[in-house]
Amino acid sequence: MSLLSHATIAHIADHAGKIVTLSGWIYNKTEKGKLVFLQLRDGSGTIQCVVFKKNVSESVFTTARCLTQESSCRITGTVRADSRAPNGYELDVHEIEIVHLTQNYPISPKEHGVEFLMEHRHLWVRSAKQHAMLRIRAEVIAAAQEWLNAQGFVRFDTPILTATAAEGTTNLFATQYFDLGNAYLAQTGQLYVESGMLSFGKVYCFGPTFRAEKSKTRRHLTEFWMIEPEMAFATHADNLIVQEQFVSAIVQRVLQRCANELQTLERDTTILQKVVPPFPRITYDQALALIADHYQEVEGCTPLLWGEDFGAPHETLIVQHFDQPVFVERFPSRIKAFYMEPDPARPEVVLCADLLAPEGYGEIIGGSQRIHNADLLEQRIRAAGLNIADYEWYLDLRRYGSVPHSGFGMGIERVVAWIGGTQHIRETIPFPRMLYRMYP
Ligand code: 4AD
Ligand code: MG
Repeated sequence: MSLLSHATIAHIADHAGKIVTLSGWIYNKTEKGKLVFLQLRDGSGTIQCVVFKKNVSESVFTTARCLTQESSCRITGTVRADSRAPNGYELDVHEIEIVHLTQNYPISPKEHGVEFLMEHRHLWVRSAKQHAMLRIRAEVIAAAQEWLNAQGFVRFDTPILTATAAEGTTNLFATQYFDLGNAYLAQTGQLYVESGMLSFGKVYCFGPTFRAEKSKTRRHLTEFWMIEPEMAFATHADNLIVQEQFVSAIVQRVLQRCANELQTLERDTTILQKVVPPFPRITYDQALALIADHYQEVEGCTPLLWGEDFGAPHETLIVQHFDQPVFVERFPSRIKAFYMEPDPARPEVVLCADLLAPEGYGEIIGGSQRIHNADLLEQRIRAAGLNIADYEWYLDLRRYGSVPHSGFGMGIERVVAWIGGTQHIRETIPFPRMLYRMYP
């Protein structure tokens, strides 16, 4: 039997009434006199395998009884429809072949502390909820890329080792790069993807990005994955329209294709179902007024002076007033990146927006129209205290066929945390990198 024609638990219905061999791992086992119930998982799903003493040889029954949690095995049996089974089928076992008998698997079905589980992350990813969350991650990534591809965006890969900063100089990871001095791990692919935009019109980059942020919050990783579309001739207003279409397409696809996973995570999906364009838009100034009126209603929230940036409590407060993701537009330029286009009507703010997820999951997208005038960009680079020589190539993009253009970056882990409904971003990536964790 070739690997691809193997029966899988996800497609067990195709084999109803037939004899199949399933290969996988024992998730759980219970015994009841002449019966052994084995929960077998194969990566695609979980099925209950029933070993009835009367129906099998003495040795198969003994094998079933000695199977331990996370032992790998091949189980042969007849697929039987059972309305009580979670996926509608059970396996009446005939044969069992142990591939590897596991002793003392560290993660038992009992409760463990999160530190213990993080220390065993390499094994924890097999547990039902972690498995469900990471499958949603894979679906979010596939949905994002396929949507962009279908809209005519071209994937344009950008370097991870870079010579320049794009999102501030205080959170750079540096490493010695031969005789050329410091290389920095990319905080964003944006500057490079702008070069691709002038070649292809619509592009995106997708990869790991790095921020040496000394924050221990539930929303920050030091290594996270970002997808960054960039569009020639697109204005700030166009940018928001693309973002709301993009995000709602991703959410609707996950709802459609990951119903079981969302159920495993006990996610309330009613709010997700409402995620359809258009999303509400408020300005930074309106957000400040909202905060001034309601800050006492949210723990840890304080009023803000114009020019101050939001903290997590402010974002939580803002989204409480909407049941959709909400765009906050036109931030003061002094709290945003150097490359953002000033609002022509009011140059102290920039044509940017953060997209805040509902239910307090925080900012999932940061985006803006980019400065396309070379002189203004040069002035902003200098004002940010950056070395202009490092940015000559970036300025060239404004010297040769410059066009108004816009783009944005969506953090995959933030989106997965929101859709999957987990309070902590550490469960949304196989191996989270955080201030106090690099192992495993
Ligand atoms: O708002 P940010 O910093 O924007 C940029 O990097 C732009 N260059 C993107 C662009 O316009 N092409 O980051 C974008 C998103 C955030 O909204 C958030 O979802 C995620 O990246 N993000 C993080 N996710 C996890 N941990 C961190 N430390 C993150 N920092 C940003
Ligand atoms: Mg941001």
